[in-house]
Amino acid sequence: MKVLLIGSGGREHALAWKLAQSPVLTELFAVPGNPGIAEHATLVAVNVDDHDAVIAFCKDNSIDFIVVGPEAPLVAGLADRLRAEGFAVFGPSAAAAQLEGSKGFTKDICARYDIPTGAYQRFTDAPSAKAYIREQGAPIVVKADGLAAGKGVTVAMTVDEALSAVDDCFEGAFGAAGAEVVVEAYLDGEEASFFCLSDGTHALALATAQDHKRVGEGDTGPNTGGMGAYSPAPVMTPEMVERTMKEIIEPTMRGMAESGYPFSGVFFAGLMITKKGPELIEYNVRFGDPECQVLMMRLKSDLLPILHATATGTLNKVTAEWSDDPALTVVMAAKGYPGSYEKNTPINAIPEAGGGAKVFHAGTALKDGALVATGGRVLNVTATGKTVGEAQARAYALLDKVEWDNGFCRRDIGWQAIKREKA
Ligand code: AMP
Ligand code: GLY
Repeated sequence: MKVLLIGSGGREHALAWKLAQSPVLTELFAVPGNPGIAEHATLVAVNVDDHDAVIAFCKDNSIDFIVVGPEAPLVAGLADRLRAEGFAVFGPSAAAAQLEGSKGFTKDICARYDIPTGAYQRFTDAPSAKAYIREQGAPIVVKADGLAAGKGVTVAMTVDEALSAVDDCFEGAFGAAGAEVVVEAYLDGEEASFFCLSDGTHALALATAQDHKRVGEGDTGPNTGGMGAYSPAPVMTPEMVERTMKEIIEPTMRGMAESGYPFSGVFFAGLMITKKGPELIEYNVRFGDPECQVLMMRLKSDLLPILHATATGTLNKVTAEWSDDPALTVVMAAKGYPGSYEKNTPINAIPEAGGGAKVFHAGTALKDGALVATGGRVLNVTATGKTVGEAQARAYALLDKVEWDNGFCRRDIGWQAIKREKA
């Protein structure tokens, strides 16, 4: 099978690494890819935003299957265009991608299908949002409706903080994403991420993960795209997984199908495990980054037939086997991230890895033959172990061999799980 992978982050490097191991694969291309992905795929210089150019490339090269990594091309309708041309595509339609693209859309599905989530209201003007906040009191959560690169959410501990978050949204801090605001109840508990494939009719539960969103140790400081992750999430016991499937995933699939937007792709459910059980915080419609990296390290099955079955409505014909060994990834980011940071700083050495360890490229490029850091999040140093503690020790031992002066990382990725292991 000839496959085209869309994307250029650590998530896509992990997908490329795993796809390249498939006996079914004949050739792998990536648009635009990165130097890590180039170890496994032929990089193609096509502009992803130019859907006609992507379609032309697929036709010219007789591509059999397209895997879309990030959300932006999905929300922009790339999967729809490719499907209309007769291609098999992993990734939802633009209509179904609203599950990630509009928080209000998702909350309305939850309300209609009795999916456990924080009570909420949608607002298009500041005065009514503020009146609702004053009535509800704090803590309370204010969210820009649309895609805001992970920055549109304020978990407000005081009413004043919530009121100013409303002003930020309506005054354009998040651009068009903030034209509508969702105000929702604060959920107390432990967070976990749950990944599940859907072909519109059948579901296949994958695995769980926990990430570290804050930039600072002890989960402090501003939010980022994720500074590290591990899988599985200890809080997601088999009972919690079963309840998540029954109470959240299955009604969502039914709701999407009945609304005319059957969901094909991966559900990345952000959950809060509260005293009542799993509650939905949000959906993403693509693999998490860096959660995908730890999932791919633990997946024993061939990834390609599983993704292809998702795209072709045959998910009931495949299974996914997982290693019991936990995997952990540490993100190395450019100093200054998530604020401003220097670009094109040299990365002098990346250690050889293997045997359950791998350094994935997230934001690198080749400049005159030399490897440089171009993104905020740049490398994902990933390892497995018999315990999260062992995976962590192996990941940091590998990371200490990376020679990149402008890089930094958190030194406590996995702390919650390790505390549990020691208890
Ligand atoms: P989101 O972009 O919706 O995932 O929100 C970002 C982060 O804000 C989540 O990972 C949670 O840590 C937090 N958060 C979002 N909604 C809630 C909520 N209703 N209650 C508590 N924390 C929340
Ligand atoms: N790591 C969080 C995300 O991919 O959205």
